[in-house]
Amino acid sequence: MKFKKFKNFDINSDSKILSKNWKDNGFLILENFISNSECKILKDRANNLVRKFDFSKNMTIFNTKDHSHSSDKYFLDSGDKIRFFFEEGAIDDNGELTVKKEFAINKIGHALHDLDPIFNKFSRNLKLHQLSNHLGILNPLLLQSMYIFKQPKIGGEVICHQDSSFLYTEPLSTIGFWFAIEDARISNGCLWTQIGGHKGPLRKLYTKINNKMSMKEIDTTPYGKIDTPLEVKKGTLIVIDGKLPHLSGMNMSSKSRHAYTLHIIDGKCDYKNTNWLQRKKSFPLRGFI
Ligand code: FE2
Repeated sequence: MKFKKFKNFDINSDSKILSKNWKDNGFLILENFISNSECKILKDRANNLVRKFDFSKNMTIFNTKDHSHSSDKYFLDSGDKIRFFFEEGAIDDNGELTVKKEFAINKIGHALHDLDPIFNKFSRNLKLHQLSNHLGILNPLLLQSMYIFKQPKIGGEVICHQDSSFLYTEPLSTIGFWFAIEDARISNGCLWTQIGGHKGPLRKLYTKINNKMSMKEIDTTPYGKIDTPLEVKKGTLIVIDGKLPHLSGMNMSSKSRHAYTLHIIDGKCDYKNTNWLQRKKSFPLRGFI
């Protein structure tokens, strides 16, 4: 099945076809949404943050296959901080790094957009604001950001999921912005999805029960066939409906696959206090302005 790749995004001239693609497919591919120099600025900044990170402290493995990390305070407290998460396999049984420091980090999260001046400036972008409004989010709030490295030879798999399972509002409103900072190909672990898969139900909810996070099944409908690779060039923005099932494979190639992701919700919707990501009252969510 085919899907449209928008070459040069223009909210005014593409307005109708954007809406149709969004409604039919549950995602949008907007090529050249950001320039090569913007990609470089974000990449340099992320690499600098890793360089300054004290590896001897706070070592935790981010493993998306099982959610045992849910009890890890380091992860659960990271919603309003800038924290570093390791690739599975980057640390051996003795607690030593198996790869060079610069290839050991899986991602940085989850409040880069508020706490880091470079990511703040990048994320609070007029084009994104207009696009959010166009997709029906009239009171957007910037909830979560991640810089994902998908390191060469070691970049871990992310199993099939729907983003709204992790960032849940009533009614559903979560939208993900996935910026390719480097080319994303099948070989280095691009996203895969099912076209139109957002029309199915939300299957799972990562939710707080008795003060512990757990993955609760709320609908047993199986996912459809995740048969569509979203191979994109550097500078492309993939917009993802919170209900669209998607995954990415391991990166066994020699090329990394850097991406920056930003998730927004509608401030008019109820962001549940049973979500893992909570912020201090003194540090409320903000919009694009
Ligand atoms: Fe996701």
